[in-house]
Amino acid sequence: MTIDIDVNSVTVPLNWNQLFTGDGPVHVEIGSGKGRFLLKLAAERPEISLLAVERAGKYHQLVCDKAGRRGLENVRLLRTTAEDLLFRLLPPLSVDALYILFPDPWPKKRHHKRRLFSPDVTEAMVRCLKPRAPLLVKSDHPAYAEVIEAVLNQTPGLKPSDPEEAFLDLPLTGFESKYVMEGRKIHAFSMVKK
Ligand SMILES: C[S@@+](CC[C@H](N)C(=O)[O-])C[C@H]1O[C@@H](n2cnc3c(N)ncnc32)[C@H](O)[C@@H]1O
Repeated sequence: MTIDIDVNSVTVPLNWNQLFTGDGPVHVEIGSGKGRFLLKLAAERPEISLLAVERAGKYHQLVCDKAGRRGLENVRLLRTTAEDLLFRLLPPLSVDALYILFPDPWPKKRHHKRRLFSPDVTEAMVRCLKPRAPLLVKSDHPAYAEVIEAVLNQTPGLKPSDPEEAFLDLPLTGFESKYVMEGRKIHAFSMVKK
């Protein structure tokens, strides 16, 4: 079982039958960090095939090691960027749920161009989702959360759904568990592909 998928050796676009042994729904997480959310969801829902992308090599390796030690056969990790995943790797209409949890807020104005959420990127997210598939986002950063909300609401092909319901059975991420203890407000967005 190979958890760590070499981005230079994959079929483009990705082929789920080549990557996963199960044929259940495919959920994708962008920016999995230390993997708390991904690993918990994979353990709780073995019928789901879970693909995560993480750009930082240190976190990528950490999560590969943890998934291997826990024998999580439904997890695959790609060390690459969200942009590479969305604009090159994901087949259209292939994803059953997409999670972007606590994307880097890049608070300094001169760094705003590094933020993930823009109309081009959310349109690419929509293209990869199956009809009625959820796109779930959280942020602790009030100003970035406003940007995310505006971009999501202006993206053709998405409609809002109830975030409380959408996140109800999902694990917390590593960042979120820290923020909850600190009493920080979490902004949760739940959209569905029309
Ligand atoms: C603020 S952390 C959140 C990690 C995790 N989702 C959590 O909530 O604990 C953002 C993560 O996204 C990764 N990341 C940031 N930009 C990325 C990009 N363009 N492509 C892939 N990963 C990215 C970072 O390396 C980092 O691990």
